[in-house]
Amino acid sequence: MDDSAANRVLIIGAQGVLGTLLTRGFREAGWDVVRGGRRPERAADFRLVDLSQPETLARALAEVDLVVSAVRDTRLTAERSVLSQGGMLINVNGVSAAERTALRREIVAPRGLVVGRTGLGGVVTFLAGRELIDQHADADTAEVGLTVSSRAASGREGRLFLHSLLARPSHHATARIALPPPFGRQRCIELGPNEVTETIFAEAFPGCAVHYYACLSPTIFRATFLGLNSVRLLSKLPRAAFTAGRGVPKRIPREPFCYWATLRRDGRVLGSRFLQGEGNYQGTVAATLVFAEALRPHASGPDARRGVLGVDEILALRDVEAGLAEHGVAVSRITPAPR
Ligand SMILES: NC(=O)c1ccc[n+]([C@@H]2O[C@H](COP(=O)([O-])OP(=O)(O)OC[C@H]3O[C@@H](n4cnc5c(N)ncnc54)[C@H](OP(=O)(O)O)[C@@H]3O)[C@@H](O)[C@H]2O)c1
Repeated sequence: MDDSAANRVLIIGAQGVLGTLLTRGFREAGWDVVRGGRRPERAADFRLVDLSQPETLARALAEVDLVVSAVRDTRLTAERSVLSQGGMLINVNGVSAAERTALRREIVAPRGLVVGRTGLGGVVTFLAGRELIDQHADADTAEVGLTVSSRAASGREGRLFLHSLLARPSHHATARIALPPPFGRQRCIELGPNEVTETIFAEAFPGCAVHYYACLSPTIFRATFLGLNSVRLLSKLPRAAFTAGRGVPKRIPREPFCYWATLRRDGRVLGSRFLQGEGNYQGTVAATLVFAEALRPHASGPDARRGVLGVDEILALRDVEAGLAEHGVAVSRITPAPR
């Protein structure tokens, strides 16, 4: 990679919904974007990148020093290539603990940096979560949650991920949770147990029982799910209902979203962090942009970090919250008065 690659980013999955929004967001922020996708296009900024054919990546990688992947790829093709060749890759889906271990074993002297635990979920779980854990080491319970709107932008892969969270098991516990305006007190569905609760949260909140909640909106969507949940029929939710209507919407919705993390001890709230903004996917773009800028100094020079790291191993919430605010994602901290 030469100097001309310094402000150039390859977005893999650029033909998908999140990839399209990432492309727009990075361009608006002044980056030179190379779009990678698996369906051929003639556009000058496009490169055919099919992660099931690793050789298609090589040319595009040589042009950039940053890769953002919006593709959930269990083969870890792009991650492996960046670790071997150099540069930095931000994976919006994260890299699981098992995947990190496998990559570390395989590439013992990495030349590049792969950063996982990004996206809004990563900010709230690992950056806000770390800050909370540092302040409240005596916590015994963590609650992590997100709002899910049927009006939000999402592509096929994003909706399938949601289906996997909501449709298993057939019945979820529910709880009423007080969220900041405009949400207020809402009945939320407890998600899991699943891969997220069993692996990711166990890493983020060691020693705590973790509850993972989704607050569904608007009212009709929430009522439908709560109804199906009460008669234990969630596992009958057809995948097709989640994958119908593909394509990038012309107008990107700006529904309010909230992600939160709360620590408790003996049921008492010790502290909470909330992330709020408008448009869940836009918020993910904002987080990715802010991470890209904040991580850059750590990815080159004599002290460059290499290997597979979580974003929390490099940055703290304080390092990114001003940048997030500039992009319309607000962080708020609530610490109840001592009793
Ligand atoms: N962490 C977060 O905060 C966050 C937020 C939003 C979304 N996400 C995740 O981001 C991902 C994308 O979501 P989305 O809603 O944008 O889905 P999407 O619209 O279905 O986009 C996925 C894209 O990946 C492409 N793709 C799939 N396999 C590929 C391969 N082998 N090589 C190259 N490209 C490949 C697809 O190509 P085709 O177009 O040819 O099918 C599609 O363009 C999902 O995994 C979702 O869970 C994470």
